[in-house]
Amino acid sequence: MMSADPENEILLRGGRVLDPASGLDAPADVSIEGARISRVGPNLTSADARIIDASGCWVAPGFVDLHTHLREPGQEYKEDIRTGGRSAVAGGFTSIACMANTQPVNDDPATTDFILDRARQGSPARVYPVAAATRGLEGKVMTEMSALMAAGAVAFSDDGRTIMDSGVMRLVLEYSRLVEAPVMTHAEDRRLVAGGVVNEGEVSTRLGLPGNPAIAEVTLVERDLMLAEFTGAHLHVAHVSTRGAVERIRAARDRGVHVTAEVAPHHLALTDERLLDYDTNAKVAPPLRSEDDRIACRAGLADGTLDAIATDHAPHAQHEKELDFVEAPPGMIGFETALAVVLDMVREGEISPLELIRRLTINPARILRLEAGCLAEGSLADVVVIDPSRKWHYDPAKGYSKSQNSPWAGSDLEGRVLHTLVGGVPVFDAERGVLI
Ligand code: NCD
Repeated sequence: MMSADPENEILLRGGRVLDPASGLDAPADVSIEGARISRVGPNLTSADARIIDASGCWVAPGFVDLHTHLREPGQEYKEDIRTGGRSAVAGGFTSIACMANTQPVNDDPATTDFILDRARQGSPARVYPVAAATRGLEGKVMTEMSALMAAGAVAFSDDGRTIMDSGVMRLVLEYSRLVEAPVMTHAEDRRLVAGGVVNEGEVSTRLGLPGNPAIAEVTLVERDLMLAEFTGAHLHVAHVSTRGAVERIRAARDRGVHVTAEVAPHHLALTDERLLDYDTNAKVAPPLRSEDDRIACRAGLADGTLDAIATDHAPHAQHEKELDFVEAPPGMIGFETALAVVLDMVREGEISPLELIRRLTINPARILRLEAGCLAEGSLADVVVIDPSRKWHYDPAKGYSKSQNSPWAGSDLEGRVLHTLVGGVPVFDAERGVLI
């Protein structure tokens, strides 16, 4: 995160404060002094504070995104740490974890160091590198976890690739215990994926495209749950997309396995039907699934089986997404649309505002053991002000990412971030845009 001097005092006045960590859901004011929250309560006053009017709005901790692709180093034509960080705060994300599938791969401390250095120079969001679990993401030789942790890595993952060798995965999990960091699994059995590019089912048949079956995810999730149980390690399942995975995670949690899991907004909102026009902007890994899977993911998020919402923000350039469907790279950008998309579950009565905010803030913060996601007095002043019913039109060309590959391009959305503060510094407001 870039450092900027916080103002003396900022008073967020008249909002509905949602702080899941303390269970607070009530009208209140929030006062920020320096980089931290100084007071939370009704009718706060101050002689010289800058006032931000939050009436009619929700005031919540800044969101924590466990799963992003910032593309730097190596693919800065898609995104860089500065533009990714700007897009993040425009979507209310104040802490973001970035995956290791950069070029070079983030598999050694020098690259981790570089990422953190770039973040300090240009990102308004706090950036937390996830280091590779194996060298070069090749699934063969483990990385040096303690050196990577010392450099600032917060978790380990070969995201984008699956660690197919169960013996390697076992070792990764065992060593992750020693360094006390979670292993985030990209669970897709490559042999079952077998080149599939859309969910295997009626839609893949109609499109005449190779299918990627749900079972490719479910078998790998089950293997990793068994290995987590055996090793006692903390397994985090990335981008859950199937009913089978939700059910197996729920069962494993019930028998005491240390597992956490995330789901992406697109798997909560869209199904493979979205691909009937061959829109490569809706091509993603794992793929958009069936309606039954979507319903199961929503239920899993609501009942807490899936702990967190993570965007899997995955920028790709226009010329790449203009390739034919099989060739185009999977992934979609996600920071700026995430809130509006997931608020649908509140509108549909499937989850309360406080529980939805919990899955965007304190839950992901705890998974990565970050100081974030909380509005209690004394905590870091990473805060968002949200208007949950503000209607707006999404044009990715007017957004902050370098890429525009969103399935929501040109859509009318409901629910918007109006202000984002990081460490007491206003970094975004809906009127003026990103401020630093
Ligand atoms: C990811 C990317 O583009 O880096 N894409 C995606 O669809 N989630 C990597 C990956 O998980 O395939």
